[in-house]
Amino acid sequence: MAKTVLVTGGCGFIGTNFIRLILESRQDWRVVNLDRLTYAGNLENLKDVADHPRYRFIRGDICDRDLVTGLFADHRIDTVVHFAAESHVDRSITGPDEFIRTNISGTFTLLDVARQQWLENGAGASGQCRFLHVSTDEVYGSLGDSGYFSESTRYDPRSPYSASKASSDHLARAYFHTYGLPVLITNCSNNYGPYQFPEKLIPLVLNNALNGRELPLYGDGGNVRDWLYVRDHCEAVVRVLERGRVGESYNIGGHNEKKNLAIVELLCDILDRKVGPLPSGRPRRSLITFVKDRPGHDRRYAIDAAKIARELGWTPKMTFGQGLEQTVDWYLRNRDWTESVMDGSYREYYRKMYADRNIKG
Ligand code: NAD
Ligand code: TYD
Repeated sequence: MAKTVLVTGGCGFIGTNFIRLILESRQDWRVVNLDRLTYAGNLENLKDVADHPRYRFIRGDICDRDLVTGLFADHRIDTVVHFAAESHVDRSITGPDEFIRTNISGTFTLLDVARQQWLENGAGASGQCRFLHVSTDEVYGSLGDSGYFSESTRYDPRSPYSASKASSDHLARAYFHTYGLPVLITNCSNNYGPYQFPEKLIPLVLNNALNGRELPLYGDGGNVRDWLYVRDHCEAVVRVLERGRVGESYNIGGHNEKKNLAIVELLCDILDRKVGPLPSGRPRRSLITFVKDRPGHDRRYAIDAAKIARELGWTPKMTFGQGLEQTVDWYLRNRDWTESVMDGSYREYYRKMYADRNIKG
């Protein structure tokens, strides 16, 4: 069915992969990408589709109510896929303000404009409208050695990032219950793949390892994340849009739990194999450095993705081995991308954070 989709944060990591998937696979969907282009958003990511007849880019802020209202009216938006967020836990610890503004106030603005346009002004009368709020498994808090997050797990966010995402989930759910806005929520585990900003574990380690810099592992390196290839996440989002029941949440995960140390060792070994050891002849594992732990560091995340498998027939396609190989190949082919996105403010942020944690950058 034809759709006009407002994608927020489409110049970030997951948004870029999502827009590419839609333009390739859904011939009757139009995409309007609203992105403020913060340090994490890069217009170059979508340069090759900039003139695509079914794609429009608008630079702007999701907190700007007039702008968002104008976009709904001008483009007859019937679907929202809301990715825009401040997304990095470490930054939420050093500077939570932007997380509150974008993740909570920005989500509120989008929900409220959608309510006004679709429900009050009647543009949603066809019953086709959908507001998909993209969220994270981090809202559920931290697991011990066993157990999984299901959709009924109690929210227990423990970082400013996860608390801001939990707040936005609550707002989205409230708009469904109170106003009948056709909201869907997805809570996904850690993504990896092309276009991920080099502040997150996998691209950061690849970049440092290629440049012979320390690979900082927080704490004992034993924290566990459940890794999912970004394209699989994007396909799950499409599936929820097309077949999900409004008012429901869907957990999305890879059944692929790994300790951080294991991920970093794997990346070192793949790089040694693909580009050879360090100039000194030492293997890249020799760069691994255990550093001061992240405050409030969640120990383990693991998703029970049975509901989306059972109800919507979605399961991940990519194996971790293949996904990691492809990701490493992408970063090797696109070393200038990594250089270009790390602007002055990024380097300044890392100088400060690394100094605080005694890491040699
Ligand atoms: P990202 O940081 O790579 O990209 C965020 C994008 O949002 C950037 O393009 C940025 O410019 C834009 N943006 C930020 N503030 C904005 C504002 N006020 N107005 C308009 N645009 C703004 O993030 P990501 O990793 O692609 O994550 C996307 C979404 O998925 C987020 O909501 C995140 O919470 C969620 N999520 C991410 C992961 C993950 O592993 N990356 C996992 C689960 C859920
Ligand atoms: P990250 O990619 O920041 O995602 P999140 O905190 O949202 O899960 O971090 C993934 C894991 O890797 C997390 O346990 C923190 C750890 N980590 C390090 O040990 N060193 C690093 O330099 C970074 C960025 C993360």
